[in-house]
Amino acid sequence: RIAGPSGIVIFGVTGDLSRKKLMPAIYDLANRGLLPPGFALVGFARRDWDNEDFSKVVHDAVREHARTPFSEQVWRHLAEGFRFVQGSFGDDDAFDTLASTLADLDRVRGTGGNHAFYFSIPPNAFPVVLQQLRRSGLADPHGDEWRRVVIEKPFGHDLASAQELNTIVNDVFPKESVFRIDHYLGKETVQNLLALRFANQLYEPIWNANYVDHVQITMAEDIGIGGRAGYYDGIGAARDVIQNHLLQLMALTAMEEPVSFDPKNLRTEKIKVLSAVRLPADLGQATARGQYAGGWQGGQKVVGYLEEEGFSPTSKTETYAAVKLLVDNRRWAGVPFYLRTGKRLGKRVTEIAVIFKRAPHLPFARTDTEELGSNALVIRVQPDEGVTIRFGSKVPGPSMEVRDVNMDFSYGQSFTEASPEAYERLILDVLLGEPSLFPQDEEVELSWKILDPIERYWAKLNSQPEPYTAGTWGPASSDAMMARDGRVWRRP
Ligand code: BG6
Repeated sequence: RIAGPSGIVIFGVTGDLSRKKLMPAIYDLANRGLLPPGFALVGFARRDWDNEDFSKVVHDAVREHARTPFSEQVWRHLAEGFRFVQGSFGDDDAFDTLASTLADLDRVRGTGGNHAFYFSIPPNAFPVVLQQLRRSGLADPHGDEWRRVVIEKPFGHDLASAQELNTIVNDVFPKESVFRIDHYLGKETVQNLLALRFANQLYEPIWNANYVDHVQITMAEDIGIGGRAGYYDGIGAARDVIQNHLLQLMALTAMEEPVSFDPKNLRTEKIKVLSAVRLPADLGQATARGQYAGGWQGGQKVVGYLEEEGFSPTSKTETYAAVKLLVDNRRWAGVPFYLRTGKRLGKRVTEIAVIFKRAPHLPFARTDTEELGSNALVIRVQPDEGVTIRFGSKVPGPSMEVRDVNMDFSYGQSFTEASPEAYERLILDVLLGEPSLFPQDEEVELSWKILDPIERYWAKLNSQPEPYTAGTWGPASSDAMMARDGRVWRRP
């Protein structure tokens, strides 16, 4: 579907996200013919830019990061709808200028009074921007126009702050006009999890505690935090990605089949399963945290977290976190979900691995590996998108030797269509008013409810997270956490 007449205003347009993700995604959408002909993009920031400077910045961002080939014609037409408004968030005049700029674009570009306000700004700036949007009349649509607000994470830093933010946002925009971004939900492979589970007969009968031993959800990154001190320090790995991306992956893996894929039904199921998540009683045994020390990565020497520029050399922020969660319902009773994430790990990979119980009996003389007989279904979210099934197979030869092998589905081999970037899909959905892929206030609050006790436990310890060498798979305490349960982390 092609978006109708509309425009986007980006607050925080000089930031990294805007340059690396939002601007290229908007261009790619235009290039694929999914934006309306009169689309408008307005940047709002303090920077002393005019329309031309802004256009040049977008141009460079598109040339560097867009997925689709550059077309001079598409670019020229799109860039005619670019405007830049200079000002700070507390500046009434700047918001009045924004209002008149948008009114002007409605006339000359035909954006029809349909405006999305994209908050790529720190949460402490939300209240003032929301008040400004209300004061300048920008939050109020007339007739059949729409106004929407798009909110980037972090959505608060704990339950109380998330609730407070929700109240502030819902006070200015009605619930159905609020789009909270969790860009993992925009990824093809994440949406495919729903197809895999609910469009097939094969998996669902065994997707439960009778057959599943445990689930491992891994989001490993090889990059460090260099350059993001302001955001990351004091926040840490768990708040940065477990609260949102990993709990969303877990919810999609564990939820029941929704009555239909309409947004309300989908959310109902996610909320049910998030409400059923329980933390083990002893958090010392069920969590691990680490902080990367210097080491080697990709043949290069890299510094440790405490030596990164702009960080306090005594910072206790974790760059690795692992947690064990349980789901208190009939389907998952007794099946642990292990979630882990870290910076500067062995490689960049995100996957969901469903590990099945071992076959109850192996009528073979010898088993080659410990894991033999325990099948696994691995959804490779990125970067090598696909699905793998692991099973035992006879090794060719005279003896009955059985070894684990993999059966592979890979996007690259099965589809000629390229996957759009997550932000393309999400921005298009905002313009279409399609809310399925955006977590609602209740989901966000439930996720904080899960994480808060862990954060409180770690804060009370007030200790330094365990150091791990860059380029390895995290702290020993994380392996120990698995070993206590008689399990091991996969090495993807
Ligand atoms: C962001 C986190 O939400 O996701 C970053 O704030 C992380 O710390 C990023 O690097 C990873 O996104 P992706 O799409 O590259 O896996």
